[in-house]
Formats: sequence, structure tokens, C-alpha cells
Amino acid sequence: MSNVEKTIEALLLHNREWAADRVKLDPEYFKRLSSLQTPKFLWVGCSDSRVPANQITGTDPGEIFVHRNVANLVVHTDINMLSVLEYALTQLKVEHIIVCGHYGCGGVLAAMGRRSFGSVLNKWLRNIKDVYRLHEPELRACPDDESRARLLVEFNVREQVLNLAKTSVLQRAWKYEHRPTLHGWVYGLEDGLLRSLVTMQPGADLHPLYQYDNL
Ligand code: CO
Repeated sequence: MSNVEKTIEALLLHNREWAADRVKLDPEYFKRLSSLQTPKFLWVGCSDSRVPANQITGTDPGEIFVHRNVANLVVHTDINMLSVLEYALTQLKVEHIIVCGHYGCGGVLAAMGRRSFGSVLNKWLRNIKDVYRLHEPELRACPDDESRARLLVEFNVREQVLNLAKTSVLQRAWKYEHRPTLHGWVYGLEDGLLRSLVTMQPGADLHPLYQYDNL
């Protein structure tokens, strides 16, 4: 059955089959999961339905703590993202945070153009326009729009990794617990492959203006 044909009832029906299958394979599966959540990874990804964190990384429920939004942004005034980040760092004690972008990202493509998408979405996408402006010479040097869009997807991932490092909650975890490692990845819709763009180890170099010295 294709996605287009699926009804809302089909989702609930599938859920019953899935739950029954899991119990058949492992009778303690839900009992164990419901009593304990200890994921080592936080995933900050795009809301795009074609980039499901668990499927593409082969991870099971309980293994990845997930935050997704349009174009995988880390916005320092976004209380939703910051709550997820703080919980992941101070309670779950995650070892790795992955920012995962993807080529063909609709949010990134929208930010490259001049069309208004409504006042809320415009504000969100403005964060990506700022990334474009930061790297304008390299982006302008691209031979065509497609390669320019791919490069902006990559710059955007790198910028969001930096945005994580700029937060005091992350710097505190780096200073006192020497974790987590930050990773910037990009996913190819056309080949299903993840590529690593950037890694920041605890205490990695950051512009001094963003470093808090009284944490
Ligand atoms: Co996207």
C-alpha cells in the first residue's frame, strides 16, 4: 500500500499488529522500555517525513532522543529545542548530539528564494537566510542552483552545530562531564546515505565571545 492510499484507520491497525509482533518476539519488550529510558544520542533533525531518525540509523525505541523541526535549526530563543537539549544533557546525560540535515530540504530551498510563506514561517526561515549571508561568496561561486542548495544545506548543519556549542547548558556539560560530542551530518534522499560533515569534541574551539567563563 502506498503512502497516499493509507487511511488514518490503517495507522491504528498497523500499530496493533506491530505491538503484537514485538511482544511475540520479546514478551518483556514494552515492560522493559516503559520503565527505563537511557538513550545515548540526541537527534536534531528536519521534520521532513523522508528522514526518519530511527529507520535510517537502525536504532530501536529507547535508543535516540529526538527533536525535529523545519530545516533542523538550533535557535537560541526556541524554548522547545532548548527544553529538549537541557533534558538530554542534564537528565539523560547523552554522549552524542547529532544535527542531521538533508539534501533537497524544502526549508533551505524556501530560504534561498524571496517568496513569503507567512509571517511565522518567514521568521523561522530567516535563520537560514542569515547562514546564506555568512557564506555568500562560497555560495555565489557555485556553478548552479542545485549545487548551491546542497552547499547551503551543509553550511546550515555546521551553523546549527555551532549554535549548540554556544549554549551555556552545553558548555557546562563539556566543562564538568566532558561530554557530549557534537556531530553534523547530512542525509541524501536520493541514496539513503548519511555523511559526516563536522565533529566537535568536548571543549572544542569556539569564538571566545561565546564562551562563558563562570559556569
Ligand atoms: Co528538510
